[in-house]
Amino acid sequence: MSEVNSSAGASDVLVSFRGVQKSYDGEVLIVKDLNLDIRKGEFLTLLGPSGSGKTTSLMMLAGFETPTAGEILLAGRSINNVPPHKRDIGMVFQNYALFPHMTVAENLAFPLSVRGLSKTDVSERVKRVLDMVQLGKFAARYPAQLSGGQQQRVALARALVFEPQLVLMDEPLGALDKQLREHMQMEIKHLHQRLGVTVVYVTHDQGEALTMSDRVAVFHQGEIQQIAPPRTLYEEPRNTFVANFIGENNRLSGRLITQDGDRCVVGLERGEKIQALAVNVGKPGSPVTLSIRPERVFLNGHSEQCSNRFSGRVAEFIYLGDHVRVRLEVCGKSDFFVKQPIAELDPALAVGDVVPLGWQVEHARALDPLLVD
Ligand SMILES: Nc1ncnc2c1ncn2[C@@H]1O[C@H](COP(=O)(O)OP(=O)(O)OP(=O)(O)O)[C@@H](O)[C@H]1O
Ligand SMILES: [Mg+2]
Repeated sequence: MSEVNSSAGASDVLVSFRGVQKSYDGEVLIVKDLNLDIRKGEFLTLLGPSGSGKTTSLMMLAGFETPTAGEILLAGRSINNVPPHKRDIGMVFQNYALFPHMTVAENLAFPLSVRGLSKTDVSERVKRVLDMVQLGKFAARYPAQLSGGQQQRVALARALVFEPQLVLMDEPLGALDKQLREHMQMEIKHLHQRLGVTVVYVTHDQGEALTMSDRVAVFHQGEIQQIAPPRTLYEEPRNTFVANFIGENNRLSGRLITQDGDRCVVGLERGEKIQALAVNVGKPGSPVTLSIRPERVFLNGHSEQCSNRFSGRVAEFIYLGDHVRVRLEVCGKSDFFVKQPIAELDPALAVGDVVPLGWQVEHARALDPLLVD
């Protein structure tokens, strides 16, 4: 279900994957048929579970792996036969170690000397890039004398120092603790905004992908399931895999009863009928998964205007500081979650209460049946 984004004009496109396939053993396709246009200046993230082919795709773009079939274009030119160091691509990897015997400044000078820049140019650029990542004072230190976050910033600086048009990052923050990771996410994002460089970023952390990216390509089993801006991906998942992978959702299994344009009615096993958006459904009678986000479900009086209205028995409260997750039994499902901002939670609500609840048609998405649950 991969797609070319046809809305981007040819001149806006920096990288194109065209029918790219990759097999390591000549049998199994790790990347199945990748068609992807990456726009100039874009922050594009490849997001997906472990083994879905993200690193493989990035390595083919970097030139460290060769496609089994298809073509990769950089600025309109096929790079299938261009070696990695001639691709003008900066790279940051989780374990892309700095040279331990070189100072920070020497580490940064290295990619420039290799490219034959003069000494003055080298020291000028090193200074500039050090200031950019706020490490001006650390030029003479060795990597071992820096914290993990500082080392990662040097690695980032090293990828940017020769001013490439494209920077690839593969889980660059994976080794950092949560707080530092979130800080670095903002730093990389702001750096991207300031420099206007094109970034292709790989992560399996959905929060990271949603926070940082202009667009996210969701990978699964070597195929792009959906490519869209973060908000669209979250609000309008196109299939059950994406709905499950990005954020939380309540899933109800049923069968399609009728479809009328983009609306449909789905019957649950116990007989309840639910009005939903027909996003990805087959013929009447075929199995359907309904996806309903926990924050789109209203409780008690708030549910009065909803076209889908049922009742639920409160089973558990889970406090998360700024909001509460309420677990309920709804439509025969014992783990139906409703997310309530703390300020909106009825303090009288207690475990065992049976309450009305509901959601609007547009917040119930009828999707393909989930094969493995
Ligand atoms: N050099 C290789 N030789 C053989 N198989 C490989 C090689 N590199 C990767 N694979 C296989 O290809 C599949 C995809 O791997 P890839 O590294 O692209 O996944 P990924 O999406 O980056 O996963 P992760 O999130 O774990 O890094 C995996 O099943 C992996 O075992
Ligand atoms: Mg990987």
